[in-house]
Amino acid sequence: MTRIVIVSNRVGPLSDEGKAGGLAVGLADALRKRGGIWFGWSGEQTPEGIDGPAHVEDGPVKLVTVDFSEEDADEFYSGFANQTLWPILHYRVNLANFERRFETGYDRVNKRMAAKLMPMLESGDTVWIHDYHYLTLGQAIRQGGFEGPIGFFLHTPFPAPEIFAALPNARRLGRSMLEYNVIGFQTERDRRNFRRFVLDELGGTTEDGELLDVDGNHVRTGVFPIGIDAERFAEFAVSSEAQRRERQVRNLIRECQQIIGVDRLDYTKGIPERFHGFERFLEQHPESRGRIFLLQVAPVSRGNVDAYSDLRSEMESLAGRINGEHGGLDWAPIRILTRGFARKSLAGIYRSSRMALVTPLRDGMNLVAKEYVAAQNPDDPGVLILSRFAGAAAELTEALIVNPHDDEDVSGAIQKAFHMPLGERQERWNALNAKVRKTTAESWAANFLDVLDQIHRDENTAR
Ligand code: G6P
Repeated sequence: MTRIVIVSNRVGPLSDEGKAGGLAVGLADALRKRGGIWFGWSGEQTPEGIDGPAHVEDGPVKLVTVDFSEEDADEFYSGFANQTLWPILHYRVNLANFERRFETGYDRVNKRMAAKLMPMLESGDTVWIHDYHYLTLGQAIRQGGFEGPIGFFLHTPFPAPEIFAALPNARRLGRSMLEYNVIGFQTERDRRNFRRFVLDELGGTTEDGELLDVDGNHVRTGVFPIGIDAERFAEFAVSSEAQRRERQVRNLIRECQQIIGVDRLDYTKGIPERFHGFERFLEQHPESRGRIFLLQVAPVSRGNVDAYSDLRSEMESLAGRINGEHGGLDWAPIRILTRGFARKSLAGIYRSSRMALVTPLRDGMNLVAKEYVAAQNPDDPGVLILSRFAGAAAELTEALIVNPHDDEDVSGAIQKAFHMPLGERQERWNALNAKVRKTTAESWAANFLDVLDQIHRDENTAR
């Protein structure tokens, strides 16, 4: 089996017990079983930046990271990646900042990261690049002379082409992506959007809908929904740490039911909309006051970007208002924790929650939905309420699917989940759990890499 070289903005952690976002969870779960190199940013800023020495952590998976200069962190990470691309990919044109220096910084970092990676590559390697930070990295590696397979996976949505076209450099970005052998998307909708962009905006053609051609350059597209190591997460949920957390929660809530929300504090996650939905529920069902509350775990993220600090204030003042208006002496409807939890603790918190509100306005996949399912007690499982705009909704159809913008819909789903009989909860959960266990992080990576290696072999034979 050939070596895989993975590139993503954040690298690790490889241990699956710490705190980690969706991409890291998926990749670490996959890589631990396969080995290779994982290359990206250390998260640190130094004056030398990418040109400084790389940090290497040896092991079956070699972690190689470099620092960024202050300018790179500002223009590339906080700038083009998180203030331009991120909102566009999540359909929020109004939040996108199109400063030209961000675009320049993005190109610069993609090229410098490619130059740093090149000497580490061996012939026979398979390169797999991840996420919106590195749309143009593949092109830079090709230009550097690497001839092996290069694949790309987009963890976020790919928006409707009318939205993507708002990027001043949309066409250039799109064209550079044709250098990949395979591009993977989370859902069929994302792939369809990308195809439409290539056909409508780049003048491309396609015969089978999967292989896209623009002036003789072609790329194969595929749908590979990412998963988690569900078996392991289910073990976490019965670990002593999880049980301790579960007892802690149950002692606190007693006869009350807990609704759980766990999201990076990001405007794509629909946290204020969720609070409005819960408030609607309290208004429509006053008898449930004092019997149910929402725990929102929302670790602060990308805090130096205005849209994120604004969101934090909005979330806190909204929760304050709702608690003030609807709360009582011994009960507050909403609790917020702006910190993250290690995954075993999280598993215990999920297990002690009667329902999960996973209601992003847009989300590539959303692994919280899958982790919540994996953590449940089969004898008394909780109910997953899931936004139709999360990639996970394409698979997890037995969840209560809601429109997160519609507070009546969210309120109705909470009421239904609150009173759902055990039999129905078990039936839904059995179906969901079977799916979560079937498409795992490992099978996701294996499927993608199989297709990538196959396509590259076919293309070489055809030459
Ligand atoms: C999403 C993105 C990842 C990113 C993560 C955390 O899941 O798809 O690429 O790493 O958010 O965001 P951060 O900016 O902290 O890396």
